[in-house]
Amino acid sequence: MQIMTTRPDVAQCVRFEVAKSSDDSAIAALEGRFFGDVALGLGEVAYYRRRDQALVLIARDDDDNSLLGYVVASLDSRGGGAALWIVTLAVQPRARRCGLGRTLLRRATAFGRKLGANVIKVQVNVRNQPARRLYESCGLTTTRRLPNYYAPGRHAYLMERPLRAPSQRGEL
Ligand SMILES: CC(C)(COP(=O)(O)OP(=O)(O)OC[C@H]1O[C@@H](n2cnc3c(N)ncnc32)[C@H](O)[C@@H]1OP(=O)(O)O)[C@@H](O)C(=O)NCCC(=O)NCCS
Repeated sequence: MQIMTTRPDVAQCVRFEVAKSSDDSAIAALEGRFFGDVALGLGEVAYYRRRDQALVLIARDDDDNSLLGYVVASLDSRGGGAALWIVTLAVQPRARRCGLGRTLLRRATAFGRKLGANVIKVQVNVRNQPARRLYESCGLTTTRRLPNYYAPGRHAYLMERPLRAPSQRGEL
């Protein structure tokens, strides 16, 4: 798939691929950069990449093959339902606001639908406005506040959206 970006300093073409083992270290490095002490480590990235009911999808710059972004999504079928959790999602600063985050989220959602997920869920830092706006723009709503979720004084919101009906606004 190709998407045309709106910024001249961003590569014009982006390629989406299921991650391979050779991508683990680049993903883990970006995780550490963006999420610090709550980042996925190398072993966790590899765990999700190998898991049947999980997806690690990357976006590559078609010009130089560099990693522009990624999403890790995993199905949780415990407790009767089938929830697709967005474990992590990130886009390189130079490629932001070009639609990559939304495209990665849509593709992860399509994967979840195929596996029978009836809800998509994500935990997001209460201070992370860009991510909250992205999820809201895709039809997710805040259903709970999770006090001290990351550490004392570092709170999260649980955001979710049923997957039964297509979103009117976000078209997930
Ligand atoms: C959150 C993140 C993934 C968004 O990626 P992105 O590729 O820039 O997002 P998109 O270009 O697809 O944006 C889709 C929509 O999200 C919202 N949005 C994204 N970034 C925003 C920002 N900085 N401010 C306000 N709204 C924002 C907008 O509604 C945007 O639509 P628009 O550009 O048409 O207005 C990116 O900022 C990022 O990697 N942040 C660091 C990692 C992170 O926090 N990940 C989320 C973990 S839960």
